[in-house]
Amino acid sequence: MHASSLSFRLAVLFVIAGMAMGIGMAMTQNHALMPAHAHLNLLGWVSLFLFGIYYERRPALDTSRMAMLQVVLWSLGTVVLTIAVAAIHLGYHAADPIAALASLIVFAAMILFAYFVFRPARDLAPRPAAHLTPAE
Ligand code: HEM
Repeated sequence: MHASSLSFRLAVLFVIAGMAMGIGMAMTQNHALMPAHAHLNLLGWVSLFLFGIYYERRPALDTSRMAMLQVVLWSLGTVVLTIAVAAIHLGYHAADPIAALASLIVFAAMILFAYFVFRPARDLAPRPAAHLTPAE
């Protein structure tokens, strides 16, 4: 699977969970989980979908293991951060260090993405295809 396909699929799953959380908050008139909802939607839906678009436009990067690692790290960090932020806002302050760790995972994934964006374009050029001369 390409990094872009994984990004798009996970982003859609995250926004379904995020919207369900939003509907739950609206129905119960209890907005305590609002920060978790906002993080899930903005990291899991908006950012991840944007990564997918970036990768899809760069086929050499899209098939690389590093891009896949970036998507996996980001998604893992998003899940853990969302759960930890929700726990903190429900009064379980013991989740603080977990949120801190998850924020560092997401940060590391963003640094990796920054590396993809800033590294010289020649690193992303497709490998030259072998030239075959037709037999006479
Ligand atoms: C079915 C869809 C959704 C529902 C029912 C919903 C519901 C809610 C509710 C009830 C709040 C709390 C508002 C407050 O306490 O002031 C909220 C906040 C928020 N939502 Fe959603 N939401 C939905 C989708 C989304 C999506 C798709 C995004 C992002 C792409 C998003 C981003 C946010 C943000 C950033 C906040 C915090 C706003 C603030 O700080 O005042 N939501 N949402």
